[in-house]
Amino acid sequence: MCVIAIDAGTTGVRSRAVFPDGRPAVASYREFTQHYPQPGWVEHDATEIWEAARTTLDDVIAEVGLDHVAAIGITNQRETVVAWNRTTGEPYGTAIVWQDRRTAGRCDELEAAGHLELVRDRTGLVLDPYFSGTKFEWLLRERDIPTDDDLALGTIDSWLIWNLTGGDVHATDVTNASRTMLFDIGERRWCPDLCELLHVPIDALPEVRPSSGRFGVTSDRCGVPAGIPVSGVAGDQQAALFGQACFEPGMAKNTYGTGSFVLLNVGADYPEPTEGMLTTIAWELADGTVAYALEGAIFVTGAAIQWLRDGLGIIDEAAEIGPMAASVPDSDGVFVVPAFTGLGSPWWDPYARGTIVGITRGTTRAHIARAVVESMTYQTRDVVDAMVAASGTPITDLRVDGGASVMDDMLQMQADQLGVTVRRPVDQETTAIGAAFLAGLAEGVWPDLDAIQAAWQLDATFEPEPDRTVSDTAHAQWLRAVDRSRAWAD
Ligand code: G3P
Repeated sequence: MCVIAIDAGTTGVRSRAVFPDGRPAVASYREFTQHYPQPGWVEHDATEIWEAARTTLDDVIAEVGLDHVAAIGITNQRETVVAWNRTTGEPYGTAIVWQDRRTAGRCDELEAAGHLELVRDRTGLVLDPYFSGTKFEWLLRERDIPTDDDLALGTIDSWLIWNLTGGDVHATDVTNASRTMLFDIGERRWCPDLCELLHVPIDALPEVRPSSGRFGVTSDRCGVPAGIPVSGVAGDQQAALFGQACFEPGMAKNTYGTGSFVLLNVGADYPEPTEGMLTTIAWELADGTVAYALEGAIFVTGAAIQWLRDGLGIIDEAAEIGPMAASVPDSDGVFVVPAFTGLGSPWWDPYARGTIVGITRGTTRAHIARAVVESMTYQTRDVVDAMVAASGTPITDLRVDGGASVMDDMLQMQADQLGVTVRRPVDQETTAIGAAFLAGLAEGVWPDLDAIQAAWQLDATFEPEPDRTVSDTAHAQWLRAVDRSRAWAD
């Protein structure tokens, strides 16, 4: 038997069959269109996302055989919002993507009106346009969407659950809910005060369930074979924490994707939310076990490599970045702050913009490439330093995954910057694996967390250089470069 994970990311959807006996993966991937209607705006067509999910799922079922599919798990880009009509099934226009900055002014207004404390205390988040709340508010107001019984609001997971179940189930899980800025993470229910503040009708929001447990079954109306249980749902970064088997407090992971997201398991209780730090729900299992995490959200890491390829044309393929960065011993004083969509943790500056400093007549494209790679490790250090300060718990080691984690040199720099051991697993698609584990746990494919822990296999370990002088000096210079990128688009 296998579990199929649907990983609905920011640029494409990948469905992947995960086998408990470690058999090689069967997968199918479709990219979808990115819409940039104005500077700082990012939109997706929710119907195109559902089509990509449906067709890739269908491909994988056809290859593994329906009889071998025990369950489906869903993991997704978080915070992205969709509004749709429950009767027609049609979305009310495009989805607004997590990267979208259009509600920055509204967040300023809310902060000036003194609402930051309410947001921080209830949701564990900060007042930033990254989260769903102000996006929902914008959608409803600007698109004149009727707030009647037909209205359904949700994140991408809810949209997929609703479509897979043929409109029978409108639900989400605690991890996705905890990114909306409308969810009380302590009480684990929608917060009426925040819904009222942001004019979001609470009845249009999905029912919130544990991340592991049966949400429903596929419908014969959805276009994939009927009757498959949908039994695990988690936002992609929480799914990666689960897929990395970071089950104990103090364990942390970093996923180097479009952006990078560091999550530190802090256990069943969470520290008082502090300035600039995100507290989030890591998962809730079917038996009611809850884990919380501190999170550092870095908006641009891998996307800066795409920019070197597509924007500057310095490389032809993303894979060239590693060798090019390694062709010079250091960045020769060049720092690239890739604040293309503002800065996330720990700075929370939606008005910061990309900056390159330290260019001299001797600067080459290799130095720029190296500075981009280094920026991933500095940004990660910034968020880890802030997390350790907030939680008072030093991280024991960092497990890494995502596309850029294939770069050994980058991971060595990361270990040196953090002063902790960095470990890379054999299977780096931890997001999909995490979603499959959550669904498989609910359906008895994996009996317990010990079985999942045993499935995690180490590929490589990177030990930090004991003398921290060089890395600390470089990091101090980086912080000066960050300063120069701040408040640019104000
Ligand atoms: O919070 C945004 C995050 O969930 C996006 O992840 O992997 O789709 O870039 P990814």
